[in-house]
Amino acid sequence: MSMTKSYTPSLFEEETAKDTASARANLGTFQDSLRAAVHRWFTYPAGFSYKAVEEAFRLYSISKGMTVYDPFAGTGTTNISAKQKGIHSFGVEAHPFVQFVARTKIFWEFDLAALRRDIDELIDKMRSRFETTDVAGILVEDIFPELVCKCYSREKLARLYFCRETIASLPASPFRDFAKLALTNLLRRAADVATGWPYVAPQKPKTGSKANSNANILTMLRDLLYQMHSDLEEIRRTSLAGGRATLIHGDARKRQDVIESESIDLAFTSPPYLNNYDYADRTRLETYFWGEAATWGDITEKVRRRLIISATTQINRSDYDESCLFTEDLREAVPQVARELKEKVAELSKRRLTKGGKKSYDIMVAGYFNDMQLVIEETFRTLRRGSAFMLILGDSAPYGVYIPTDVYLGEIGKAAGFAGYEIEELRTRGGKWKNNPQRHDESLKECILTLRKD
Ligand SMILES: C[S@@+](CC[C@H](N)C(=O)[O-])C[C@H]1O[C@@H](n2cnc3c(N)ncnc32)[C@H](O)[C@@H]1O
Repeated sequence: MSMTKSYTPSLFEEETAKDTASARANLGTFQDSLRAAVHRWFTYPAGFSYKAVEEAFRLYSISKGMTVYDPFAGTGTTNISAKQKGIHSFGVEAHPFVQFVARTKIFWEFDLAALRRDIDELIDKMRSRFETTDVAGILVEDIFPELVCKCYSREKLARLYFCRETIASLPASPFRDFAKLALTNLLRRAADVATGWPYVAPQKPKTGSKANSNANILTMLRDLLYQMHSDLEEIRRTSLAGGRATLIHGDARKRQDVIESESIDLAFTSPPYLNNYDYADRTRLETYFWGEAATWGDITEKVRRRLIISATTQINRSDYDESCLFTEDLREAVPQVARELKEKVAELSKRRLTKGGKKSYDIMVAGYFNDMQLVIEETFRTLRRGSAFMLILGDSAPYGVYIPTDVYLGEIGKAAGFAGYEIEELRTRGGKWKNNPQRHDESLKECILTLRKD
């Protein structure tokens, strides 16, 4: 398949070769953002580096007063970076909890002295509740799903419950969201077990410096709230005024009427990768803790079904006609891609039957490209002529069948009206599985796909 492969203009072109290599490798990860004011209010492994956004702004001369768009806004990295520079932005996010996080991180318009007082008052209220209630008598097992109970001692969970109730009893306001996000951020830090699922089950006690079974919940929460307060001071001091961020809880596959056609100067995003990552599962502790979901079925209904297909946990095979997995639109727009994909999907349908998990990678791959076509078309509509749509993404090889996601999405972009595309490699990934017989040995990479609109 023909494709344009170009390495210019390049991100980080001004740095030394060594710095460039390591800085570039981090662009698709959340590492840098974990150390940055406001960005760090929620650890989202699916997030990318704010530095990638800043480089994209530099590359395309995006400055104060212009407008950018992130169709998979996640926790708001693009929107925060834009607001810091006085750039207007739109972000669409379909996961309700993740969208709450983004919305909360983008609100900086507090009266900071009043915020400090509200924080102290809240902590005092919680303290007096702890002192006047029989915390040990709370039946946490009746309140929380088992998964949450597994993460804390009964007493610690009871304290977290009181914190939750105190916050929930506040009137709806930016401060309530702010406090809710702080307590959310505390949940994994305060856990007595490793909480890295979907990859790590909550049963391994934390050890060494990470162990915190005696941690004082109130002190931890107050410190986090103070840190968020000082992050706000810092970000306000260092940001340009005037950047308006509009965060939409919605579906990037659908037309977003609030975004006018040809009004966007740059679209920048990282879509879900085709790597079976379950975003709904990633926030299970948080959504279960806040009572926003209580079962697997709940999060399927409220989250999984609303996201583009990128994980087999979103798929119920009986919902699909296996003889016709690709939409007519995709087959018509990119016949060559559709033919190649059809062969790969047929191979996956065979391979899955030989595997223990029998994962529906065939349907996942087809569904992913059907969905991404809709997102690319809608994003094309919003972009001005002469602008670009940049996507940080990874390729994948489910059951060892290699899927060149970057090239296929580039071709879909061309069919949607983009003039052409470039692919720039950021890092190779997946190496740690190399010697694992359960895994494939395809070399995978993370890259930036840039679609240009003339
Ligand atoms: C790779 S993450 C983006 C993370 C973001 N760059 C950040 O720094 O937080 C992809 C996001 O797409 C969201 N998503 C999936 N399907 C969506 C849809 N149909 N519309 C909008 N967002 C969607 C997921 O919930 C997830 O948060």
